[in-house]
Amino acid sequence: MTEFYQVVITALSLLLGGFLLTGSRRRIMYMLYKTLPRDILGAYRFLQVNILLWWWEKREYTVPKVFSKYAAAHPKKIAYIFEDKKWTYEELDHFSNRIGRYFRTRPFSQHDSIAVVMENCPEYIGTWLGLSKAGFVAALINTNLRHDMLLHSINAAGCKAIVFGSEFKDAIRDIKNKISDDIGLYQWSESADTPVLEEAIDLNTEMSSIDPGPLLVQLDYSSPRDKLIYVYTSGTTGMPKAAVINNLRYMLIACGVNSMLRIRSSDRIYNSLPLYHTAGGIIGAGQALLRGVTVVLRRRFSASKFWSDCIHYDCTVAQYIGEVCRFLLTIPPSQNDRKHKVRLMFGNGLRPQVWESFVKRFGIKQIGEFYGATEGNSNIVNINNKTGAVGFIPRYIGRLYPVALLKIDEKTGDLLRGTNGLCIPCEPGEPGIFVGKINPKKAINDFSGYADEKASEQKIIHNVFKKGDRVFNSGDILVMDELGYFYFKDRTGDTFRWRGENVATAEVEAVISNVIGFKDATVYGVEIPGNEGKAGMVAIYDTKNSLDLEGLGEALKKVLPSYARPRFVRILSELPMTGTFKLKKKDLQQDAFDIKKVKDPIYFLNNDTYVKLTDKYYNDIVEEKIRL
Ligand SMILES: *[C@@H]1O[C@H](CO)[C@@H](O)[C@H](O)[C@H]1NC(C)=O
Ligand SMILES: *[C@@H]1O[C@H](CO)[C@@H](O)[C@H](O)[C@H]1NC(C)=O
Repeated sequence: MTEFYQVVITALSLLLGGFLLTGSRRRIMYMLYKTLPRDILGAYRFLQVNILLWWWEKREYTVPKVFSKYAAAHPKKIAYIFEDKKWTYEELDHFSNRIGRYFRTRPFSQHDSIAVVMENCPEYIGTWLGLSKAGFVAALINTNLRHDMLLHSINAAGCKAIVFGSEFKDAIRDIKNKISDDIGLYQWSESADTPVLEEAIDLNTEMSSIDPGPLLVQLDYSSPRDKLIYVYTSGTTGMPKAAVINNLRYMLIACGVNSMLRIRSSDRIYNSLPLYHTAGGIIGAGQALLRGVTVVLRRRFSASKFWSDCIHYDCTVAQYIGEVCRFLLTIPPSQNDRKHKVRLMFGNGLRPQVWESFVKRFGIKQIGEFYGATEGNSNIVNINNKTGAVGFIPRYIGRLYPVALLKIDEKTGDLLRGTNGLCIPCEPGEPGIFVGKINPKKAINDFSGYADEKASEQKIIHNVFKKGDRVFNSGDILVMDELGYFYFKDRTGDTFRWRGENVATAEVEAVISNVIGFKDATVYGVEIPGNEGKAGMVAIYDTKNSLDLEGLGEALKKVLPSYARPRFVRILSELPMTGTFKLKKKDLQQDAFDIKKVKDPIYFLNNDTYVKLTDKYYNDIVEEKIRL
């Protein structure tokens, strides 16, 4: 089918070419020839998503409603596979009905948010789905968080209760005294006889007597624009935020990827990504909920099990983040490399440096790299296997998709404005901030914001293309080529990404400052050769040389998840007197851990303790002999 379109379109563009083939138009014709097939294919698939969403919105469908309808029509089809167990649509429907019915008996009001802290498993999805059926909003908490960071997440969404898996009993016990008494604790356990945390309610027992019958019929108050779940993002500035995912947004993200990459209902998707993130929980899990595609879940990612799992479960599609691909490349070649049937891998963060060796070694026919922010309104997808690109927009056929790159000051990262006060769009080849125009009338171009309204406003830029307009600021720097393909460059602002997780520097600064007796600390990300994203580095002002580095290593291990723990510490002996703070941070970031350039002592995280960085260690890190 696709080939058929390509032939027709290529013929059409050649024909068109015949008409206009004069002088300077030749170049444009060449571009059209190169991009028109892609653009028409993209527009066609994009239109399909729009029609589907329009239809669902018109009929007041929500995610639970679409799911339950599908479950009623295909009760015995497999929705999820987890370890040895296959979950049919009927089973998941019943599980979520039970959860929903049970929470209806508890003292909550409609739209109350309830934190969910569980490992990857089908019940995880059943839990938030059930809460939604009952009119509540699940906040999907990052399971790496402990102490203050866990508390912050629970508070950021104003949660009235916590549903936690028994694996997180200790983490919940640690914060129990710091949360208000009226926040209910509900423990769900994989095996029913697991001891329950003091003062928590045993969900397994409570649910066993609940009727699994349909729940939605009595509840017709939920509408497509109502909140479905909260997913946490680091935003660009400040502390992590609870991003509102309403039903339409969930549908758009999951169905958008489905349609743009032509995932089939006969496919089987391998999803080893965390279900509290957009990639695993919406794009991955959503394929089963909304599109009838069987999804294989894994408790956590394992590089050594990746291909043997894909073979064992007969997967035809697999999900990645950049680190996944790099880790897979580091394991020794095996016959599994080519024995699997995975034809498409999709995800975000596959860097051009490893793209081709990855595709070659594992024989992947298509890479579906995409780019988008969870809370944002500007998502793009690489639909035609173009090496290195995160997506495209049509350059020569109208302004179909309202995204743009805006020029920035290369030193400060600040947005540049022309004499008329408006922003300046980038030319091809010029890096700029990726933004999406906000149009609240259209689900696709709306920005649902955060639980915290003030934080939402910070993500919006005003007066961009004309006075009074608004755009969503992704905080990422991308560059577009002449044909309209986009490539990822960098991330601006006070966040960075490490091991697939976003780190908000403000949050890490606050935690570290607490630990070191409120000395000044600045956190930033630095590049390490051979690694995706940026590793955390902290510069601490310690004029009296009084810092206990050993204690710091131990303390940070308790309060920060591994990915947020700074890999490097730089001790600054004097406070910066000149220049803005922002510029200082930029300088620190540029110095990174280069001990040839930096005179201050630098330490690196080795075996959970900070060890002085020497020339030898430095070389080992740069040559990837030591992995941090
Ligand atoms: C997709 O691109 C890769 C190179 O990045 C190539 O090896 C592969 O053959 C391409 N697939 C198809 C179907 O053209
Ligand atoms: C890390 O610690 C373990 C045991 O404490 C030790 O065996 C190992 O050699 C250490 N690794 C490095 C790189 O120092």
